[in-house]
Amino acid sequence: MDEVEKAKLMAAKHAFQLIPPNNRVIGVGTGSTVEKFIQLIREKRELFHDKVFVASSIDTALRLREHGFKVVSTSTIDKIDVYIDGADEVDPEMNMIKGGGAAHVLEKILAYNAETRIFIVDYTKLVRRLGEKHPVPVEVLPEALLFVYRRIKELGLRADIRKSRGGKYGVVVSDTRGIIIDVHLDKPVDVVELDRVLHEIPGIVGTGFFIGLADKVIVGYPDHVEIIEKPIKDRHYSNDYRL
Ligand code: 5RP
Repeated sequence: MDEVEKAKLMAAKHAFQLIPPNNRVIGVGTGSTVEKFIQLIREKRELFHDKVFVASSIDTALRLREHGFKVVSTSTIDKIDVYIDGADEVDPEMNMIKGGGAAHVLEKILAYNAETRIFIVDYTKLVRRLGEKHPVPVEVLPEALLFVYRRIKELGLRADIRKSRGGKYGVVVSDTRGIIIDVHLDKPVDVVELDRVLHEIPGIVGTGFFIGLADKVIVGYPDHVEIIEKPIKDRHYSNDYRL
């Protein structure tokens, strides 16, 4: 196993130990680090027989099911106790870019609605600014693809429509039936403002910016982990709009 794989396993092992036993609904993200987490829970299946899982992608749902776990549709639940996922980039503020696996729309819905959000990454995912190593994926309704693509380029951003690297010819279509435009951040930008501007373009379903959605980031190294935590006061349900 190479160093990065060892680091992913370290992060997944630590996340496994952090899941409180009283959590019933567990959300699971997508990707190779999450895959290691799934392998770990499979080895301790007896501890999870009373749990219900909700998956951020068809791939994750299939893997959980083939190991005998109970997977329910996202449309049948309104709250998740704990959510575990990976990420493509994490900045010092715990903001992230996700969507390397084109699952970010559902991943964001699950993360937003989870009581506790734990992200597991290897050390190569740490960046000083978002966009340093990865473009930010933007999911677009197929009907709006070229309108959105043109508008993004008018904003002065370099963008590519994501193409399949095998198994399918042409554009990548996500599990939520959108097409992915990868937007490159060639120079430092205010990601919160860019995220807001992108969401104003009709046809964009969601971006891969995860701003303020992590409670804990477990960073794996080949022989140890580091944990980055967010102060509780920043939780996303702090606003109360009840009359
Ligand atoms: C999928 C994601 C993944 O979490 C992200 O791409 C990281 O994947 P990996 O653990 O394989 O490096 O956002 O949409």
